[in-house]
Amino acid sequence: MKKKINFTEVNPVSQKIRRKIYFEILKIIKKKNFILGDEVKKFEKRFSNLSKTKFGIGCASGTDALTLALMSLDLGKNDEIIVPGLTYISTGLSVLLNNNKLVLTDVDNETGLIDIDKIKKKITKRTKVVIPVNLYGQRVDAKKLRKIIGKKISIVEDSAQSHFAFQGNEKKIRPNKHVDISCYSFYPAKNLGAFGDGGLITVNNEHSYKKLLALRNLGSVKKNKHFLKGLNSRLDTLQAVVLNSKLNSIFDYNSRRRNIANYYDKHLSNIKGIKLTKTNAGSSRHLYVIRVQNRDKLIKYLSKKKISCQIHYPYSLNKLKFISKNIKKVKLEVSERWSKECLSLPIHPNLSSNDKKKIVNSIKEYFKAF
Ligand SMILES: Cc1ncc(COP(=O)(O)O)c(C=O)c1O
Repeated sequence: MKKKINFTEVNPVSQKIRRKIYFEILKIIKKKNFILGDEVKKFEKRFSNLSKTKFGIGCASGTDALTLALMSLDLGKNDEIIVPGLTYISTGLSVLLNNNKLVLTDVDNETGLIDIDKIKKKITKRTKVVIPVNLYGQRVDAKKLRKIIGKKISIVEDSAQSHFAFQGNEKKIRPNKHVDISCYSFYPAKNLGAFGDGGLITVNNEHSYKKLLALRNLGSVKKNKHFLKGLNSRLDTLQAVVLNSKLNSIFDYNSRRRNIANYYDKHLSNIKGIKLTKTNAGSSRHLYVIRVQNRDKLIKYLSKKKISCQIHYPYSLNKLKFISKNIKKVKLEVSERWSKECLSLPIHPNLSSNDKKKIVNSIKEYFKAF
């Protein structure tokens, strides 16, 4: 029987780290400090240090990170938030959950990232926030974005797919003064994944930090003193244990992903039927996305060869019924086209040389590109 090539690997850590995680989990079970234990604080500190931001606030998921970030900005129901059409549902959903006006804009045809040049036309007196999404792991150019939108509009970065990605072609992380809030997800399949749901927000502003600490904990930082309308959205201590252990490997894992992506780039670039995603070297390469016509036919072909693919995403937000009911009608030509053509190939730190060769050769065979 042919071995199946999985799309991703949810827990790619070594035996040694896995054993350490089990041991640490048992320690917490004995200690019983399940809610906001020391490990949460430790992880928040380490994560924010590594991402060159001042403060980290753990929470229950990436969706909650976005929602809490918007809650912290004290927005009104007529305030507008600009979001790209091509993204995971959570980016748009957070705006609706916070009862603000969702304004969708198109993405760039080469990168799939929010088209910064098109944002200007979407800005009104009521625009309060732009949420650039670091789609597939590639960071949006926040400096350029800031230049276009000015100083009064907040930038809330959706970094759910870009843990420790570098800006542009840089090779290390630098502080980014243009972004106000960054939101992360630790969904198990992410570059840094928990053993369940988890999320985190980073900020540089101390006032925002203190507010977010309360917002994620029912509006309180001290027992029985509630001063804000908050959520119950804490990062679980057990998940913080897992994340603390995995954090040591993240730079290595990101670089392994980059190597796989470079291999795909090199071997797929000459195939006529494929459009590659223009990606800079700093991307965390969470997903490797190509665009093809007749996507279903290729998926079927690869699936017969036991190669699993996925689609990110099969919708542009303006085409989802419950979203379109809540926004002004809008045509997003590029996002809509991407949603029909995009296809994500397997990528994870432990994808073997043989597997990536097999994937490339199968695609070449399909396109008769030998
Ligand atoms: C771009 C993007 N935003 C937000 C989220 C939401 O994160 P979560 O699943 O942790 O709620 C995800 C991932 O699932 C994502 O990929």
